[in-house]
Amino acid sequence: VDLTGFERLLTARGQAVLAEATEADLTESGLLATATKLRERYPAELVAAALTQARLRLRARDKFGADADRMYFTPAGLEQSTRASVAAYRARRFAAHGPVLELGCGIGADLLARVRAGAGGTAVDRDPLTAAVARANLAAFGLSERASVRVADAAGQDPRGYAAVFADPGRRTARGRVFDPKAYEPPLDTVLALAGQAPAACVKVAPGIPHEAVPAAAEAEWISVRGEVKEAALWLGELSGPVRRRATLIGAGDEPVTLTPGTSEPPPVRGWGRYLYEPDGAVIRAGLVADVAAATGGGLIDEQIAYVTADAHVPTPFAAAYAIEDVRPFSLKDLRAELRRREVGTLTLKKRGSAVDLDRLRRDLRQHHRGGAELTVVLTRVGRAPVMVLAHPIKPAKPAKPATR
Ligand SMILES: C[S@@+](CC[C@H](N)C(=O)[O-])C[C@H]1O[C@@H](n2cnc3c(N)ncnc32)[C@H](O)[C@@H]1O
Repeated sequence: VDLTGFERLLTARGQAVLAEATEADLTESGLLATATKLRERYPAELVAAALTQARLRLRARDKFGADADRMYFTPAGLEQSTRASVAAYRARRFAAHGPVLELGCGIGADLLARVRAGAGGTAVDRDPLTAAVARANLAAFGLSERASVRVADAAGQDPRGYAAVFADPGRRTARGRVFDPKAYEPPLDTVLALAGQAPAACVKVAPGIPHEAVPAAAEAEWISVRGEVKEAALWLGELSGPVRRRATLIGAGDEPVTLTPGTSEPPPVRGWGRYLYEPDGAVIRAGLVADVAAATGGGLIDEQIAYVTADAHVPTPFAAAYAIEDVRPFSLKDLRAELRRREVGTLTLKKRGSAVDLDRLRRDLRQHHRGGAELTVVLTRVGRAPVMVLAHPIKPAKPAKPATR
């Protein structure tokens, strides 16, 4: 869909066909019949634009929930957009820091969240279709008065007059996924230079950003959603907090939890205890494994590997906990025999610091376990010695429900 096609979709007629398309059969097998029927009453191009949009909305539900049904997308814009839970969490810090200048707003997921949190302003995107989509998204929620979207290059923007700058540079370009911050679009250096001209700023970067690339004055926050690390945010100026590193975990709907450095001591290295803790990826990226060790009274089994072992089970949202049944040198033969002996039907394999190919191991073990028992096998190493830990996950306790009167 090009810009003209998208603008037609926003007319009364376009909205009528979009409404019908949204209600129609959009499955692979039903799509052709839906298109044929709609084309009896609407121009083919408009039908194509509406069907594309309706299908993108379905795909977007995972990121945006019910809002997806009112939003507009481009395929690349949806792909690059920040999921609503993360955008809303990040937007909270902006509440007292408007107006905001956003450099490269995409379809406007972060923009919507900030405006909803009370920080309006101006957003630019160099791609005219993407900018039009962001504008339509503001309008869809009645927020057009509170922010504006312009087609412009980020590099030419003047942050003066804004309380804060926000940027989420593209990391998937025409050449594929880029890792070098200089290859971000706009490049990280350009964005940081502009951010430095505002009293406050936040720049979203890849979670793999090396700690050396984080500006010394920034607070870096790694964010994971349901255990998957999604991004890092660099908070600058008045938006940066009292800590330099932070790991924030966003769950299925609970309030996010955040971990900041509490200890400057490196974690002790020790022998196996009764429990194994697997820190969340955001905790590892933020370099806060020592804090999980301190919180659980445990230590590392190998100083290179981010597994914590301890004698006690101390529930923490920052690590998955396992009760250890046995730790043995890694041996395929021994593992097969053990699975048979224990009548393991459901096997979970995990690894860290192990060279074993888990997919291959899973195939190699398939014939060797049947039964009703469950087992988690964690492959790791202590020094150079490969080991297998036989364990059972400890389900996190549900937070106590507030008393009702
Ligand atoms: C990762 S996306 C932003 C996604 C947005 N945060 C969201 O959640 O919807 C980056 C955007 O920056 C835009 N962009 C890239 N280089 C730019 C530049 N030099 N000036 C303005 N926009 C640019 C791209 O067109 C793209 O839409």
